[in-house]
Amino acid sequence: MTSVMLIEDAANNNNSNKIANNELASDHYLRELTKTFTGIEKPLKNAPTCATLTDLISALHEAFASDRVNIEFVNHLMLSYQSNPSEWRKFAKFDRFRYTRNLVDAGNGKFNLMILCWNEGHASAIHDHADSHCFMKMLKGQLTEVRFAWPKDKTVNEDCKADIGNSNGSGEIEYDGEELEETSRSTMETNGVCYINDNLGLHRVENPSHSDVAVSLHLYCPPFDTCSIFNKQTGKRTKCKVTFWSKYGKRETQDN
Ligand SMILES: [Fe+2]
Repeated sequence: MTSVMLIEDAANNNNSNKIANNELASDHYLRELTKTFTGIEKPLKNAPTCATLTDLISALHEAFASDRVNIEFVNHLMLSYQSNPSEWRKFAKFDRFRYTRNLVDAGNGKFNLMILCWNEGHASAIHDHADSHCFMKMLKGQLTEVRFAWPKDKTVNEDCKADIGNSNGSGEIEYDGEELEETSRSTMETNGVCYINDNLGLHRVENPSHSDVAVSLHLYCPPFDTCSIFNKQTGKRTKCKVTFWSKYGKRETQDN
């Protein structure tokens, strides 16, 4: 694992549920500890808020400073920040052909905060989240999030080059599986936050607009650089490496 930490299940916040990280298999600990958290839609009452992006980053570092992280509070912090383009514009780098992932802060190895830039019609493949928490906040425009149930067959294919920015998934190899079942669909507006982890299924994110770009702020904890993408028609699952288009406002070269 990239990070050793204990995540509190905010919905079951009592001593009996505080299980030491090392008591759980590393690849399943997050699922076990976050079985009931589905995200919050409104900021918490009487909790500190973040007036600027810099404040948000500081507050996140504080929230992740100890071994215990309250993901409900992290969700609150993401909700409390109100998008101000002058603060995030330097990170928002677009590509003509696919959505981009731009690292804003590496969170001392405990989380990754990044800005994703979506041109008109850009979409991700259907993907999982490598047992991490994922918070997604709209900074500009709209994104549609479509959720899917996991396929019954969870075999992972590692034999072809998959690209999370290819919204068709890995369709070129024949695979005899069932079509993925869509479970929900929602459109996020500016400043909204949604939350997903692998317990809640898979998702695909898309800028539905033909005229407007979209920008979103994502927090992943722990950070990950490999996940799986899925073909909608067959459920075929393929390992996929995820990379950054830019880091800290500077374009990454092909070799990085
Ligand atoms: Fe995602």
